[in-house]
Amino acid sequence: MAAVRFHHHLLLLFFHLFFTLSYSTETQSLLRLKQSLVNGDRSLSSWIPNVSPCSGTWLGVVCFNGVITGLHLSDLDLSGPIDVDALAEIRGLRTLSFINNSFSGPIPAFNKLGSIKSLLLTQNRFSGPIPNDFFDPLNSLKKLWLSGNRFNGTIPQSLTQLDLLKELHLEYNSFSGLIPNFGQRLKSLDLSFNKLEGPIPGSLATFTVDSFVGNDGLCGKPLVKACEVSDTSYSMASNVGEEEYGSGWGRKVIVVLVVVSVAALLFLLLTRKRRVEFTAVSRNSNAEEAVEVQVASVRGSVGERRENKRGDIVMVNETRGVFGLQDMMKAAAEVLGNGGLGSAYKAAMTNGLCVVVKRMREVNKIGKEVFDAEMRQFGRIRHRNIITPLAYHYRREEKLLITEYMPKGSLFYVLHGDRGLSHSELTWPIRLRIVKGIARGLGFLYTEFSTYDLPHGNLKSCNVLLSDDYEPLLSDYAFHPLVNPNVAVQALFAFKTPDFVQNQKVTQKTDVYCLGIIILEVITGKFPAQYHSNGKGGTDVVQWAHSAVSEGMEVELIDPELSSNDTNSRNQMLKLLRIGVACTEINSDQRPKMKEAIRRIEEVQV
Ligand SMILES: *[C@@H]1O[C@H](CO)[C@@H](O)[C@H](O)[C@H]1NC(C)=O
Ligand SMILES: *[C@@H]1O[C@H](CO)[C@@H](O)[C@H](O)[C@H]1NC(C)=O
Repeated sequence: MAAVRFHHHLLLLFFHLFFTLSYSTETQSLLRLKQSLVNGDRSLSSWIPNVSPCSGTWLGVVCFNGVITGLHLSDLDLSGPIDVDALAEIRGLRTLSFINNSFSGPIPAFNKLGSIKSLLLTQNRFSGPIPNDFFDPLNSLKKLWLSGNRFNGTIPQSLTQLDLLKELHLEYNSFSGLIPNFGQRLKSLDLSFNKLEGPIPGSLATFTVDSFVGNDGLCGKPLVKACEVSDTSYSMASNVGEEEYGSGWGRKVIVVLVVVSVAALLFLLLTRKRRVEFTAVSRNSNAEEAVEVQVASVRGSVGERRENKRGDIVMVNETRGVFGLQDMMKAAAEVLGNGGLGSAYKAAMTNGLCVVVKRMREVNKIGKEVFDAEMRQFGRIRHRNIITPLAYHYRREEKLLITEYMPKGSLFYVLHGDRGLSHSELTWPIRLRIVKGIARGLGFLYTEFSTYDLPHGNLKSCNVLLSDDYEPLLSDYAFHPLVNPNVAVQALFAFKTPDFVQNQKVTQKTDVYCLGIIILEVITGKFPAQYHSNGKGGTDVVQWAHSAVSEGMEVELIDPELSSNDTNSRNQMLKLLRIGVACTEINSDQRPKMKEAIRRIEEVQV
């Protein structure tokens, strides 16, 4: 009898041990969360007891070294009350995404999640005002997306106290009243399509119009509508106009990306793939130049819900019309070459639109949400000297970026290409227009991506496209945060400069150096040796220009095709040349800031 009882106790003990080991409290918390949700049983059927949430089978659960760090519960048609107390028990939770579900009612008490860094509630039906002090406890918050809900009332003042806040997306709600004064250095801000009114605080004037459109009552920069005196009197506009560019944001992005990449890995493990392949063959029928473009479509229990079912492309800019992967597969394709970020080909679609499809092989550590957000931000750019992407295609193992094709090709091609085009077509006024356009494009990027270490990062003449009338368009910009750090060295020109090669450090001054190379290249007409990764071939334009300047032999640098008897023009060429020399100082402290370089370029006359 005693033996039986002992045996019974032992069983209980084992049961207890089993319970505490594999059925941890965090597992219970997640199961409680699931129970609190309408549709949780159906959408989260992969959340089952006795299997660890970090085993890779729990939909949307992101772990890092066995610790739950994120819940990415997008597109699951979830609704009902959210058991925030259960969420608060998950100690490592940093990212919470409920994007595109059916939640409604007042904002849940997410402010109990004191360590949360990303709170993404885009596209639900949350409504009502958010208490003014709601965000007080959320000191770690970096990214808040509330877009596409029905929030009203004023923008909570407590948001202005979050020192780490970088991304604030409140678009498509019904927020009203004044915009509070954000002193933080926000990287990304969207307040469009609300009911906001009054002056835009000076600290936000560096964002583009797109961040504010759809609020009829707003005035002041960047909007065209100026404020009445009575409007400005109640705004304590802070002036950040003179602030230096630059911050440690690049590093912070990478931290976020590491978390997201774990999610991507998880989905890779969970999904089975079937590949549809097609081959685009170069028109010059050189078999070796054939490029295979594999377009994978996902089939798999979890992946199917998350991924675009047709494996199609996502339009981010419809100014050139809407097209799909089908259109592109029917297109006549031609290989264009291999840039730093991957190979590119040209596709002439049946609707007449000609596009460049770039495979971004090196952009391979990015989660879909981050990539999508970044591409959409690119897609909203409207600047005469920036190429705006049209669409992208995202798969874990394949990312394509689609932009409009420019028949003239790149500045590099026009300067050094072999199609028998003489430099003489590139007169001094045209070269100056190209350099000024590049400077204006950079000025825009330095506002739009002002917190990036490298707002461009890949500035070289082959990434400057030319329109029919020689207006330059910058491409391949702002990729640094998207690129896997250990391939950035191969993929981005900024990492081939002395800043990185000698000092292992890239800064905004590195972009200035790259601008300097282009200036010297345009003035001399020479192929810069700097573009060769092994330094062989071409002309070391930096060395040549610096020694010529110190020896007073500057005139010899000017492309013979440009030589002119007009001393005024020649002086202006020399003025531009000296800017190029200043920008390519080996010691980055001696280079002008980008803003200053742009100002000096604008002063050069034809
Ligand atoms: C939102 O989620 C639903 C499934 O609940 C899906 O059908 C729909 O396509 C999603 N919308 C977007 C824009 O992703
Ligand atoms: C906010 O919306 C609710 C309805 O969802 C309404 O009752 C309330 O009056 C609105 N508040 C403001 C300040 O507009």
